Amino acid sequence: MLRRLDQILASLGYGSRKEVREFITKRRVTVAGAIERDAATKTTPAAVRLDGLPLEFPDGLFVLFHKPAGCVCSHDTREGQRVYDLLPPRWLARNPAATTIGRLDRDTTGLLLVTDDTALVHRLTSPKHHVDKVYEATLDRAPEPRLIEEFASGTLLLEDEEKPCAPARLVLRGGPEIELTLTEGRFHQVKRMFAHFGYEVQRLHRSRFGEYTLGDLAPGQWREVPRPG
Ligand code: URA
Repeated sequence: MLRRLDQILASLGYGSRKEVREFITKRRVTVAGAIERDAATKTTPAAVRLDGLPLEFPDGLFVLFHKPAGCVCSHDTREGQRVYDLLPPRWLARNPAATTIGRLDRDTTGLLLVTDDTALVHRLTSPKHHVDKVYEATLDRAPEPRLIEEFASGTLLLEDEEKPCAPARLVLRGGPEIELTLTEGRFHQVKRMFAHFGYEVQRLHRSRFGEYTLGDLAPGQWREVPRPG
């Protein structure tokens, strides 16, 4: 889709409409290789360069981030360090702004997808789409094997909820270590499922989200990934 040059630059986080018009009048912007001085020119983000460099994520932002412990998925700066404070500031200046696909608690580590594609956020977080999320956890003690059936039953009703949890796959990894696969993303879901049976989750890490895994990505690092098929 063709869009105005100033609108493209502003919506990809390069500055306000006023600021990016100044880049254009200062001859810092090219379209298809030629300096463009008209902010109203219609083009595509991929054809634009600023100071000779292609624009970042011209066709939309979609990255995988390894969330470290101690930061929150909220946009609210009053909640302490945010995952967005660990990512390039330009991503938040985009319109739509970067957002995480679902949330992890402050103390949870692991795989978070970050995008500016709001339709994709809805698709990947909707319980209708049954995207598998795999969590590794350490509990306060070894769980009873009966939890495998309890979680798989699709009848587990959490406190203050009317709808039972969808069937979940629990694998006992030995001692207090477990792996749990969920297709939903309810508030504090893993911790609440175990709390229902009197267990406390002491460490929680998400290792997979749908088709995505962290691989060897270090905590605090991100990498671009293809959009889901
Ligand atoms: N379940 C939780 O309890 N916490 C998370 O961060 C993710 C899933």
